[in-house]
Amino acid sequence: MTIQLPDLPYAKDALAPHISAKTLEFHHDKHHAAYVTNANKMIAGTPLADKPLVDIIRAAAEDPSKKGLFNNSAQVWNHTFLWQSMAPKGGGAPKGEIAERIQHDFGGYEKFAEQFSAAAVGQFGSGWAWLVLDGGKLKVEATANADMPLVHGKTALLTCDVWEHAYYLDFQNRRPDYVKTFLEHLVNWDFANANLKGAK
Ligand code: FE2
Repeated sequence: MTIQLPDLPYAKDALAPHISAKTLEFHHDKHHAAYVTNANKMIAGTPLADKPLVDIIRAAAEDPSKKGLFNNSAQVWNHTFLWQSMAPKGGGAPKGEIAERIQHDFGGYEKFAEQFSAAAVGQFGSGWAWLVLDGGKLKVEATANADMPLVHGKTALLTCDVWEHAYYLDFQNRRPDYVKTFLEHLVNWDFANANLKGAK
């Protein structure tokens, strides 16, 4: 299989009590796995079959007849990125270069957190909230469904999944509480710093 399901970078109970093992079990083993299975089925026997995931996503994004492949392959990438965007004992104010950039581009962590929360809570229906590097500047954005910064020429630094499957078992309909918990207890700033460094 060209496209692989990566293991979670931590144990299923590692994000508890904020995100339960049950949520990670369904989210990784069922939802993420299904995107992998579907994308592999769609590329089987086509010229994309042996291509890297990012090439498959870019090709599908440019071809309106490949909407299903875009959705599934982008969701594979988005979820792999999501697992790394969270860490046990994560969250709170950032350190390192990302902290300086957030101070410069947003006017401080609190202002960033307000914007990120508004984007995540305000995304109507399913989607993602992102911290991105766009033209050398940090920005917050939301995308719908499987859409992602990569295909819009932006570099993702961090993401929060706001599909209901990401939080419903733990927070039911309370998306604002989930996003608050994500920011206060889960954000992996080391990952964001590494992505910022890699973008140069
Ligand atoms: Fe998800």
